[in-house]
Amino acid sequence: MKKLKTLLIVAFAVATASVAHAADDLLIADFEGPDYGAWKATGEAFGSGPARGALAGQMQVEGFLGKGLVNTFRGGDDATGALSSTPFKIERRFVAFLIGGGHNEQKLALQLLVDGRVVRSATGPNDRSGGSEALAPDSWDVVDLAGQTASIRIVDEAKGGWGHLNVDHLRQTDTRPKGLQKNVERSIPVTARYLHLPIRNGAPKRVVTLMVDGKSVVRNDIELADGSADWWAPMDVSAWRGKTVTLRVDALPADSVALSAIEQGDGFKDEGSMYREPLRGQFHFSPKRGWNNDPNGMVFYNGEYHLFFQHNPYGWDWGNMHWGHAVSRDLIHWEELGDKLLPDDMGPMFSGSAVVDWKNTSGFGKDGKPPLVLIYTAAGNPTVQCIAYSTDGRKFTKFAGNPVLKEITGGNRDPKVMWHEASRKWVMVLYVERQKKHTIHFFNSPNLRDWSLTQIVEGDAPGKPYLFECPDFFELPVDGDPTRRKWVLLAANSAYAVGTFDGARFVPEQSNLAGQRGKGFYAPQTFSDIPGADGRRIQMGWFQTATKGMTFNQSMTVPLELRLLTTADGPRLTFTPVRELEALRAGSQRLGSLSLAPGAKNPLAKVQGELLEVRAVLKPGPATHIVFSIRGVPVVYDVKQQELVVAQHRAPAPLHDGTLDLIIYCDRTGLEVFASRGLCYVPMPVQPKPEDRSLSLEVQGGAVVFKNLEAHELQSAWTARKVMTPAGSVSPARPAFPANTASPTRP
Ligand code: FRU
Repeated sequence: MKKLKTLLIVAFAVATASVAHAADDLLIADFEGPDYGAWKATGEAFGSGPARGALAGQMQVEGFLGKGLVNTFRGGDDATGALSSTPFKIERRFVAFLIGGGHNEQKLALQLLVDGRVVRSATGPNDRSGGSEALAPDSWDVVDLAGQTASIRIVDEAKGGWGHLNVDHLRQTDTRPKGLQKNVERSIPVTARYLHLPIRNGAPKRVVTLMVDGKSVVRNDIELADGSADWWAPMDVSAWRGKTVTLRVDALPADSVALSAIEQGDGFKDEGSMYREPLRGQFHFSPKRGWNNDPNGMVFYNGEYHLFFQHNPYGWDWGNMHWGHAVSRDLIHWEELGDKLLPDDMGPMFSGSAVVDWKNTSGFGKDGKPPLVLIYTAAGNPTVQCIAYSTDGRKFTKFAGNPVLKEITGGNRDPKVMWHEASRKWVMVLYVERQKKHTIHFFNSPNLRDWSLTQIVEGDAPGKPYLFECPDFFELPVDGDPTRRKWVLLAANSAYAVGTFDGARFVPEQSNLAGQRGKGFYAPQTFSDIPGADGRRIQMGWFQTATKGMTFNQSMTVPLELRLLTTADGPRLTFTPVRELEALRAGSQRLGSLSLAPGAKNPLAKVQGELLEVRAVLKPGPATHIVFSIRGVPVVYDVKQQELVVAQHRAPAPLHDGTLDLIIYCDRTGLEVFASRGLCYVPMPVQPKPEDRSLSLEVQGGAVVFKNLEAHELQSAWTARKVMTPAGSVSPARPAFPANTASPTRP
């Protein structure tokens, strides 16, 4: 590399807080040039010169100085090689550098050599999935090598995940560098409910262990902020109020303020803006803080719907899987109660389900109260299935005899359990990846503790959607007729099979059909034990609504009512928004029936709002397109194709007797559009412009007869006065829009 010179005395124009440079430092290499200069690279991993930040397919690389660095992700993680410097004389007390990437002391090493021998070595911090590409300062004390001739070698012999190293800015210095200190601790007498940990998204992940009475209680990988925090993650330490707990961090820069910044408090930091944040979905569940993915443990128990969820309480991205917990009496207003399953020695807490054990088959019941039992995956090595129980829906105890199901393959996870009344047995469906194939394993149990395999269903079908992780299994009446029932096996992408089941064997009649037709929908689950003769089957999915800049990330879809509807092709699953959502209507404009011609004025012009619901039943007749704009997001019905187009994404939406029914929900983070009696469900993460509150409707190609048209402004489920209606009933809407002359009837 052009500028690369050994033993160059430099004055640094760029200095960061964590890398201080003395004027008499000697630069070994800054990797700012187009090639490696006199340094010699072998193998593929180094390419022909330094990288300028992240390479294709790599997460954000930060913490290097200037524009270039050594990044051995060239050719991906599997590429290997070495890079060697020219010799130089050791003339200062320390060799300092920036290092990041994978952790492997043998195969991923920055080495100092004297006489061909490795005399010092350093590696990166990451040895598991997740993590950060950030470089951090580190150094060697080389006082014993003064005056000797040395060289640097960077070795990448590692393949697979984190099989690369990032290195930059090698220098000699007499100023003791601020390197990483190992196992830094802070003891804190607990006086409040929470410890508030400072988080900076993208900072190096530190292993943070909470120790109580000398024992490790929980261990998380946390992007601790060394300076100003992006947000504060509350760690609930109420169980140890009055005691002194210790937080231990595996490594921190010597000048880090991460531990000293931790504060205590009984509420959350920034509590005042809770649920009012600009990108908080206002009628979609999202965690107060941190990341969510799959809904878990969905069950109705003691008058409450329970929603557990895959939660990273300490990060904006996936990681540290806990089971978060929220309850609702009406499926709309949720109260988050804190994490219930924390990672333990068996691993992080992956997805699973919940049942009410009415007959106390498990023996976990107390004083005649049936236990609520959670069935989850502990995703360590081995990855196993476990259970936990509660008799109050608040406090949960992990079963002492865990695991209840040993590892089948490393890719076995997401148990969904149900009671099969006819055979009086529990049934579990479990995703098992076997030889790179997707399979669903079926098990029986008399007591939720002992499980035996009854069947293996292949999830793959050529040319069709596949049944992947997070299976669900339930029975539904066809067309609402309780005498005609079918079983549905459904998986994470919402693909499903319909068939029969005798308590042990599922026989698919139609398999691998497409479920939802939108984007950003994954890992749905249905509630167990919903009471009522109408046998409601209500599903929620993970709604992948990324909320940059917020203290939380992702959310859940609205609750969806599932039914089986007979079509010309056989029974098909339909998805419709639950009727409970109607309680959110704050102002309504009911235009009833009307005919709309091309060029007519926008009939929805008077409706403005941030949170909206629009319903229409229409006969397109000769029209070619029916065009809604929902806060600037186009929702178009393409009559010829019989397709719904939501934000340019197309989905089949068949007419029924020449009629289309349409329901649109719009929140700050996404739209959910339903058509064709629920055969077409299009979730769509999209963030309408905050200032655009408009609604419009026009038709093209011919007049359209609307049998019904209505629009509603909705209130927030979080911040509006809560009308906790009993499940199923609906509070009356308050008219807010100007009165109109249209018929007040609803379809
Ligand atoms: C689906 C999933 C599950 C797993 C969980 C881990 O999104 O990959 O299979 O249990 O997420 O968070």
